Order: sequence, then structure tokens, then C-alpha cells
Amino acid sequence: MITKPKGTMDVYGIDAKKREYVNEILRSVCNKYNYNYIETPIFEASELYHRGVGEDTDIVNKETYTFKDRGDRSLTLRPEGTAGVVRWFIENKLYGNITEPTKVFYNGKMYRYERPQAGRYREFTQFGVEFIGSDDILADIDVISVAYNTYNLLGLKNVTIVLNTLGDQDSRDKYRDALIKYFNPLINSLCEDCQKRLKSNPLRILDCKIDSDQDLLKKAPKIIDYLNKESLTRYNNIKEYLELMDINYQEDFSLVRGLDYYDHTIFEIIADVPGLGNIALGGGGRYNGLIEKLGGPNIPAVGFAMGYDRTILAMDNSNVNLKLRDDIDVYIMYVSKTEKETAAYLLQDLRLNGFITETDYLNKSLKAQFKSIERLNPKYLIILNDQDLKENKVTLKDNLTKEEQKIEINNLIDYLDTNI
Ligand code: HAM
Repeated sequence: MITKPKGTMDVYGIDAKKREYVNEILRSVCNKYNYNYIETPIFEASELYHRGVGEDTDIVNKETYTFKDRGDRSLTLRPEGTAGVVRWFIENKLYGNITEPTKVFYNGKMYRYERPQAGRYREFTQFGVEFIGSDDILADIDVISVAYNTYNLLGLKNVTIVLNTLGDQDSRDKYRDALIKYFNPLINSLCEDCQKRLKSNPLRILDCKIDSDQDLLKKAPKIIDYLNKESLTRYNNIKEYLELMDINYQEDFSLVRGLDYYDHTIFEIIADVPGLGNIALGGGGRYNGLIEKLGGPNIPAVGFAMGYDRTILAMDNSNVNLKLRDDIDVYIMYVSKTEKETAAYLLQDLRLNGFITETDYLNKSLKAQFKSIERLNPKYLIILNDQDLKENKVTLKDNLTKEEQKIEINNLIDYLDTNI
């Protein structure tokens, strides 16, 4: 038997409906903020992620699915959505004439070769927004509030916006020096990768999955103490605006993100999920340097992405009551050839008028069709018989009250419209 690859999943039935539900909420939130939907390729030139996400990140270093195509090009299955959107923005020269920021949202499969566990997969679905072309803190707040409002609408209560800043390049350079100074004497206590990171990118040590529990990481210098005046003012402004907009947040000066492109605002949405503990449902931040790094002009941007899989897990484990629409409006019962022809006509008519309609596709007896009805639990049954059809009528049964009535076919849609 061929089984699905490790870390992937099939989504079907109630799980698929939950995704549709989350998707609908996300789309409706994005519409309110005037974000436009975008699709970018699932694979991109490997270099995009090496330069974009960062050579020293675990995502690029250990987790990418990279392969050569038949033309000997190195391609990588996307581990995240931001780099692809930025590539699209630059390739289409959308920076040429910025009169309004570019605001997009996406959802789709992402790929990371991680150790699979609850809420962590090798193929997973992300939803994200990118807000390109504004350095104003209102853009940061906009993005954070998309995340915040979405989780509220999804009914998740134990969700916190965890906030930090990475400051500007000048602040980070000072912080980098402080980290080198701090970790240098402790180098032998660090894992092999972190020993290398100390030279190439010391900030990445703070994100190390191996060393994360070590006390020496917890006691490491914090960026907040190395921010220059502008960066600190900016950070304080962000907090003021979050308060103004009633968005709950917590500061965490040890928060670093797993991607290299951030500066200034970074945040994660953390949920305390029964059975899973604290997990990151989403995360994002400002990435003012990325567009230039990938060959475009110096244009600021900010964004955020959330994992569907973890969000749904969190909703399940927190017993969120989903308003799923999975009930059938009408089931049409028939036996004879002429009844079947009317069934086909009515199926078309009802579905075109917006009713979720089912019927028998297995030539079942009436008795067996009643069994189907017990399973499917439609709101109404249309019971066809040749006698009624001669008078252009059908029997309509309310499946809850069990009341039956004969109704003219011409009046059927109107009746169902007012009663469903
Ligand atoms: P990220 O924090 O790497 O950020 O991923 C965002 C979310 O994707 C995570 O919080 C998590 O819910 C989900 N996720 C990540 N890896 C996995 C996995 N292996 N299995 C299941 N879910 C996962 C980014 O990807 C950035 N591109 C976000 C961003 C957009 N920053 C600016 N714009």
C-alpha cells in the first residue's frame, strides 16, 4: 500500500469544512481591509529563499525541499509566502508609481522539512497578508489587527499578541556586538550550529531549537536595551496605537522570529491550547530591507502569516463551536423512470436557486432511500410519485415536524425560500 508522505495530511469531511469556514472568515476580514487576493507559484528559484529568508535560518538551512528540475535549475518548494510576494512585486515593477500601498493576501500550501508533531507538518497551509509601500506605523497596526480580529471572529479566546522590536539596522548592529561579547566566553556551551552562528549571524542563536532551554540564552542581552532613539520611539508609538485600538498585547523582549528579513516590529500570535501548551498560531513583522535585498528599490513593508492547521487544532482543543453549514436542504425521492426525470429537473432547479439538494444515485428502493434520509437529515423531502406528477404536484415533507403536504411544482421554490 502506498501511504501519504510523512508530515502531510489528507483533508476531507468535517476537517475540510472547518478549513472552508476559517477561509471564509479570513477572506471577509481581508475584504474589509481592502486586501487583494494573490497567488504565487508553489516553487520558486532556490536563491529567492536563500537571499530572502536568510542563509543562516533553520528554515533555509535545514528545512527546505530543494530539487533540480530537468533544465538543471535549482528550485525550492516555498517554505513561506512573503519572499514570493516580494519577488512578484519587484518583477512586475509595481514600485514604479506608488500612489497607494500594495495590499495583498494569500493562502496555500507551504513546505518545511520539520520533525512532524501535533501542529507541525512538512506540508501545511498558511494564510498571510503583505502590506507593501508604507513605513507608517498605521500599516503595522493594520496588519496586527487583521490577525487579532480574525482570531476573535474565529472564537479563540486564549490568544495573545506577543510583541517585540528588532529596531533599525543601526540598533541591530549594536545588539549584534553585544551578543558576540556575551556569547564569546560561553561558546563551548553552545550547540555546533550556534558556534557557527556566533560568527555569521549571532541573532539566530536566540532562535535555536537545541539551545532554547538553556539559561544562558534566557540571560542574553535584550534588543530593547540597544535600540536607538528613533527605533525606541517607533516601538512606543506602536504600543500606544495598539492600546488606542483595544488590541491586547504582551511584550516579550526575547521574541525573535525564525526568518532573517525583519526589522522594527515583530509579533507572534500565541495561543494557550489545552494539550499543546503555548503554540504560535501566526507571526509577522516589518521587513523594510527585504525588497532592496531581492533586487528592488528601498521600499518598506510589513506582513503576517498564520497556520491553518494550528489554528484549527487550537479551535478544536478549545471547544470552539463552529457554525458549519453542513445540512442538506432538500432530498428528492423517486422510483419510476418518469419520477427520475422530474427528479433531475428539480435537482437542477433547486440547486440553481441556492438549495443544497441531494438525491439517490444508487437506484435504491424507497425503503433504502428513507435510510439515507436518516443519515443525511435533510430539512425537507420531496417525494415524487407518478400520480401527483400528472397534476403537476409533489409531496413535500418537513423532516422535523414530519408534516406532509401536496404542493404545486411551480410554487415549490417560493415555499422553500420562505421556509428554509
Ligand atoms: P512563520 O512564523 O514562519 O512566518 O510562519 C507563520 C505561521 O505558519 C506559524 O505561526 C505557524 O502557525 C505556521 N507554521 C509554520 N511552520 C509550520 C509547520 N511546519 N506546520 C504547521 N504550521 C506551521 C512566516 O512564514 C512569515 N512569512 C510571516 C510573515 C508574513 N512575515 C511577514 N509577512
